[in-house]
Amino acid sequence: MNKRFQTPKTIVHVNGLYKKYSDGEKELTVLKDINLCINKGELVSITGPSGSGKSTLLHILGILDSSTKGVLKYDGVDISNMNENEKSALRNRKIGFIFQFFHLFSELTVIENISLPLMIKNKRNRLLNKEHKAVEQLIQEIGLEKRSLHRPNQLSGGEQQRVAIARALVNQPEIIFADEPTGNLDKENRESIYKLLLNLNKDKGITIVIATHDEAFAKTTPRMFKLVDGYVM
Ligand SMILES: Nc1ncnc2c1ncn2[C@@H]1O[C@H](COP(=O)(O)OP(=O)(O)O)[C@@H](O)[C@H]1O
Ligand SMILES: [Mg+2]
Repeated sequence: MNKRFQTPKTIVHVNGLYKKYSDGEKELTVLKDINLCINKGELVSITGPSGSGKSTLLHILGILDSSTKGVLKYDGVDISNMNENEKSALRNRKIGFIFQFFHLFSELTVIENISLPLMIKNKRNRLLNKEHKAVEQLIQEIGLEKRSLHRPNQLSGGEQQRVAIARALVNQPEIIFADEPTGNLDKENRESIYKLLLNLNKDKGITIVIATHDEAFAKTTPRMFKLVDGYVM
């Protein structure tokens, strides 16, 4: 079929979403009436100044946190109807997450960090032969084959973020959320991490949502949302 006539498939659907934080006396509504759809294969950026709610939104979309009100659907299924087990299964199967500060396990090697989500998904503490090969292939794709037995503190920031990207990829997610993935990197590494993410979108068709306060980069993505005072513009 001619691709032009295919209707896009919506993976993530958000409707009337709010997030309120309260610390007893004070209440802070960080997200207000968010409505958006993310389609399969899209590359989307969410921008806005520091404190505008980008991380909060990304964590909710990635099912790492819950909203105060509103609907979040994955493939048309409302996640509020899922129990915790179903939500973590969905997360393991479909979603990859990349953080600004990498969040690697410092006592684990590169290969172990990348393998961990696979072991968790399969409820096994070792890899099958073919899984081991797939992990090695990923390590090659991120250019760290000489570093697979190193620990995070033996790697540069850019290398650590590459490991985190490989870890996000290991369960072959449909969608990756990247929260300020280059926020802790110098210019050269920033550009190479952006390039890696753009290639994953282009070559593997992985849907990618990047939260960034780097508006110049956000403007280069095919679709950009801006968070202003808790609203999506
Ligand atoms: N757990 C929390 N409790 C209370 N306030 C929070 C919490 N997390 C974030 N906030 C507040 O929510 C607002 C948005 O934060 P965040 O989503 O981290 O923004 P951004 O990622 O755009 O910098 C900020 O004012 C922040 O202080
Ligand atoms: Mg943030």
